[in-house]
Amino acid sequence: MSQDAHGAEINALRDEIMQKVAEYYRLAHARSDFRPGVDRVQYAGRVYDEQELCNLVDSALEFWLTAGPYARQFEKALGAFVGVREVIPVNSGSSANLVAMATLCAQQLRTGPLRPGDEVITPAVAFPTTVAPIVQNRLVPVFIDAEPGTYNLDPNQLEAALSPRTRALFFAHTLGNPADMDAVMAFARAHDLYVVEDMCDALGSAFGGKPVGTFGHLATISFYPAHHMTLGEGGAVVTNSRRLARLARSIRDWGRDCWCGYDSPPNGKCGRRLQTEIPGASAYDHRYVFTEIGYNLKITDMQAAIGAAQLEKLPGFIAARKRNFARLYDGLKLFEEFFELPAWHPKADPSWFAFPLTVREGAPFSREVCQRYLEDWNIETRLLFAGNILKQPAYMNIERRVIGDLPVADRVLRSTFFVGVYPGLDDARIDYIVEAFAGLVREHG
Ligand SMILES: Cc1ncc(COP(=O)(O)O)c(C=O)c1O
Repeated sequence: MSQDAHGAEINALRDEIMQKVAEYYRLAHARSDFRPGVDRVQYAGRVYDEQELCNLVDSALEFWLTAGPYARQFEKALGAFVGVREVIPVNSGSSANLVAMATLCAQQLRTGPLRPGDEVITPAVAFPTTVAPIVQNRLVPVFIDAEPGTYNLDPNQLEAALSPRTRALFFAHTLGNPADMDAVMAFARAHDLYVVEDMCDALGSAFGGKPVGTFGHLATISFYPAHHMTLGEGGAVVTNSRRLARLARSIRDWGRDCWCGYDSPPNGKCGRRLQTEIPGASAYDHRYVFTEIGYNLKITDMQAAIGAAQLEKLPGFIAARKRNFARLYDGLKLFEEFFELPAWHPKADPSWFAFPLTVREGAPFSREVCQRYLEDWNIETRLLFAGNILKQPAYMNIERRVIGDLPVADRVLRSTFFVGVYPGLDDARIDYIVEAFAGLVREHG
């Protein structure tokens, strides 16, 4: 068989497989209409069609496995979407946070690496793996409270948190709601601090028309299925700094000095592969020169293949999240007497992760009653992550400084929960959630 005929046969077989995969999707995965009370109203979940399945199978047929052609395509498209020059995909949002913090501690950071004992200001209302990398890098978290309603760091506490050892701010845009970036950036600039934005829940959010993730030195994204788009597991560090990106890649990739990609020529991009000197050896292979203490947190090409398809849907996903949030807000504002509804800064344009509610002090029911009632209606609820992280067993005894008594964080711990706004919720499901709240207030209010 000639090369051409062989190629044509492969292509024809591949097309046939793809048609079958699309057919399988329609038969096995496509959703049916909502049956109230019967179907679970999830707070989040995977939203996909045959394209994700076809990309995944395509990458399986290609069998590259490790980050390769799809990863390259994914990095470019994600960078264009967020508005950053550099994207470093990793295997989770937690890994992205770990890489971001470790990058600021990198030995080669020319603008002054963070050293053990240096302080990082962070809010106590947090996801655990926003705080964990501070501790894991032997830095000291300095906890400030959250603002009621936005659940973001309270900028009024920043000055009080400052000490001669303060080097960085690390915080999430809570549930997609942008923090007050005017206040944060002014404070950071005034005191020459690094800023890391955890935008794991905030892909597509903006503040003053500028996308979140483009304010700080580094930002992090999660692609776990609960998030705005998914790779199954996955995450990314993003930055506009080529220098920081190089360090982040090194830390992700075992700490090696070499930054050549999968498609580099055999002697590397620099063409000087066998010319590195290290003490005790000359001409050491650059691929085995380690200039940082690193990890291996890379993604696979199968994950990137799914991500490439999800990215095309992302603008639609974000629009659906905003629409669902607005519809829920309209429906739930009737019950403001019992619940604090979410609030956001006038300059914030949130791409919501979820719809948070805080049961008011003095309401005739507790958060537990609300959760049980909604779960009985088959509606998923979740808590605002760790609540006050310092009340979590693993974090009670960490070395830290704390500003004030954290009353808002304690209230979040006691009384806040959220329901979903993800694109898998249509009007029928959103209206069903509002109906359930009406039932709750009727029966317990
Ligand atoms: C604010 C925030 N940061 C980090 C993470 C961790 O992301 P992952 O689950 O991908 O590790 C999450 C997870 O939901 C999160 O909500």
